[in-house]
Order: sequence, then structure tokens, then C-alpha cells
Amino acid sequence: MRVSSVAIFSAIGLVAAQDCAKIPETITYNKATLPDPFTTVGGAKVTTKAQWQCRRQEIIELLSRYELGPKPPKPANVSATFSGNSIKITITEAGKTITMSPSVRIPTGGSAPYPVIIAFGMPSIAIPAGVAVVNFQPEQLAPSDPPHGKGAFFNIYGSNHNAGGLMAWAWGVSRVIDAIEQIGAAAKLDPKRIGVTGCSRYGKGALASGAFDERISLTLPQEGGSGGPGCWRVVAEMKRNGTKVEDAVQISGGDQWFNPKFAQNAKNVNAWPEDHHMLMGLVAPRGLLVIENTGIDYLGPPSTAACTTAAKEIYKSLGAGDSIGYTASNHGHCSLPANQGPDIALFAQRFLFGKAETKTEMWKTDKKFDVKKWIDWATPTLT
Ligand SMILES: *[C@@H]1O[C@H](CO)[C@@H](O)[C@H](O)[C@H]1NC(C)=O
Ligand SMILES: *[C@@H]1O[C@H](CO)[C@@H](O)[C@H](O)[C@H]1NC(C)=O
Repeated sequence: MRVSSVAIFSAIGLVAAQDCAKIPETITYNKATLPDPFTTVGGAKVTTKAQWQCRRQEIIELLSRYELGPKPPKPANVSATFSGNSIKITITEAGKTITMSPSVRIPTGGSAPYPVIIAFGMPSIAIPAGVAVVNFQPEQLAPSDPPHGKGAFFNIYGSNHNAGGLMAWAWGVSRVIDAIEQIGAAAKLDPKRIGVTGCSRYGKGALASGAFDERISLTLPQEGGSGGPGCWRVVAEMKRNGTKVEDAVQISGGDQWFNPKFAQNAKNVNAWPEDHHMLMGLVAPRGLLVIENTGIDYLGPPSTAACTTAAKEIYKSLGAGDSIGYTASNHGHCSLPANQGPDIALFAQRFLFGKAETKTEMWKTDKKFDVKKWIDWATPTLT
């Protein structure tokens, strides 16, 4: 795992992997409630921000190993040009070349360079005024349909590469950001103010993108449910309760979003020393607004509520409790009611327009959930 972990770490620009303890090849774990983000695999308590940096790397490694596969580092050559209303991105690695051509929508108001939201496909949230949109096409890189290993991502890295679709998509979003960094001025886009969004399967992809690229300042996963801001342990209990929810077993049955080992491990998620509160914790202390749906059991609303509550503990430990919010209501899939548009605009004010004083404490849902029973650990104030 040494080589791949170094690759992942350098891809997201963290402290060197060799400064942190290596995690063992085999981990024995069994826990029905959410794993303690503040205790390392080796059993040490995390009490400082420096220790959190290493724990964060451990969590990246765990998520990669149990679910997502590794994220390759930036390829040898990423070049971008802007013309008309699209960015042409040419990516070359080890003699193989692929291209992506996301389209760009410049806002009518505001002023250049514009903050930008990278949307998986067409955005299904109200894009705040003055924000540009770049339409990223995930399926071209890694189609959701089986088999594993098809699509442009695998044309570069080989069909046996262990990245699942979500990680391949997150890699693609990072390449779009590389491109915006290169052509930012020409395209009137500001590479320092980037958000990401997507709905449903692309809500899962948007969260993975924000988790694995620290250049993203605002992550807006919409109705990602399980595989996104939902926790596997909570949906497992919902399933045992007879609810029709997307759990780890079902999710691995067809769609190619996870690494090839995910399916065989999915029957016993209690053996995973991670869950998705820790995936969301990777976004901390950057902005994260979880947009969910309480009317669709399949998305596991109690699960996203519990999971976001646990993730908020990670934010709190870093002194950033109000940088994560939750807004959920009962509505059609991927059609956010207009009265929740201001929630997104509020987070955009702070995290895309730099209005640091904006208060973003947010917990909105039309249902009550039993969320605290999933957390049996204490939250330190990391120093
Ligand atoms: C990178 O790729 C671009 C476009 O394909 C090409 O023009 C350029 O020469 C390449 N640069 C290097 C260093 O290979
Ligand atoms: C499962 O059912 C039990 C008993 O009714 C309930 O207490 C629990 O909250 C349910 N779990 C979830 C995740 O909905």
C-alpha cells in the first residue's frame, strides 16, 4: 500500500506520508455504531491538529482500501485551452492521452474573475447569482454501468486499476481544476473559489470530489444518500428494519462506483474501520452543505442525518462547527424547493464570495431522527 498511499497523499498535497504511522495490511475491526474519528487504527487518541493531519491520511487510506480505490496523482501533462464556451483539457500520462471538454456558463451578473461551481452534468440546485458553472461529464471517464474498468480514466490507468467510479470522477474534477488554474483568466474563472455539486449518484461523486481535493472551498452534495453523505451502518439497520434503502450490498450489485473489493466486504460493514462521517470529515474545515431529501426512504434520510451529525463533530474539533450544514425536505428527487435556494446562497456568500463573517450554522429537516445513538465517542478540541 506504500506506493499507492504516497500517490494519494501527494495528489491532495498533504504532509509527507512517511511522517505518519503506516496502517497494517490487515485490520480486525467490529463496531455497530460509527467509528471514532479521533482514535487511530493503532489505538492512539488524536488531540492535536498535527495528529489530525496524519489521522486524515489514515482515513484516506481506509476509504481507498475499503470502498473507493486510490486516486492517482496529477498526470504528467494536463493542458487546457478555452474557446467558445468550453474548456478543452488534454491529459497525457505514460504515453496515453485522453480529452475532456466541459462547457462553461458565465453568469450575467457579478464580476470577473467569477467563482465557479463544477457541476456533475447539469446542476439541479439554484446556482447563486454571480457564480459561473462548469459542466463536468463523469460517465465519459468511468461509466456507472458494468463492467469495472471502462471509460477514459481506465484508458490511461489500465482496466485493472482499483479506483471505483466515484474516485475516477473525483480525479476528473481535480483535472478540471488543474485546467481552470491554467486558463482561469482567459475563461474569467477564479481557480481560488471553486465549488462542486451533483445530485443522486453525482451527489456521491461531488462529495468524493470535495473530500479528495483541498482546492475545493465549497462542497454541495445533493441527495447523494448512501455512498455519499449516508453512513453504511445506519442504512444497514434501516434495511434490517425492513426499509427499502440503498445499502452497501445492493449498491454494489450493478453500478461501478466502488473498488472491486467493495462487494465482497459489503455484507459486514461493521468490520470497516471507517464510515462516511469520516469521508465528510476530510472536507473539514472547508464548506460543506449536505442537501438531502426526507421523502425518499431509498436515500436513507435517518442515515444522512446521523452521518452529518457525526461529521459535524469533526468540524467542531477543528473549531469550524458551522462550516458544515444540513438542509433536507420532502420533495421530488433532485428538485430542490425554491425556499431552500437561500441556504445554498448563504454558504456561497461565505465560501465562494469570501464573506468570512457570514453565519452558516444550519440544520434543517422536517423530520426528527435518533442521531446521537450512533456516536459513542467524545469530541476533543484539537490544539
Ligand atoms: C503537453 O500537452 C500539450 C497538448 O497535448 C502539448 O502541446 C505540450 O507540448 C505537452 N507538454 C509536454 C511537456 O509534454
Ligand atoms: C430500527 O427500528 C428500531 C425499532 O423500531 C428503531 O428504534 C430504530 O431507530 C430503527 N433504525 C433506523 C436507522 O431507522
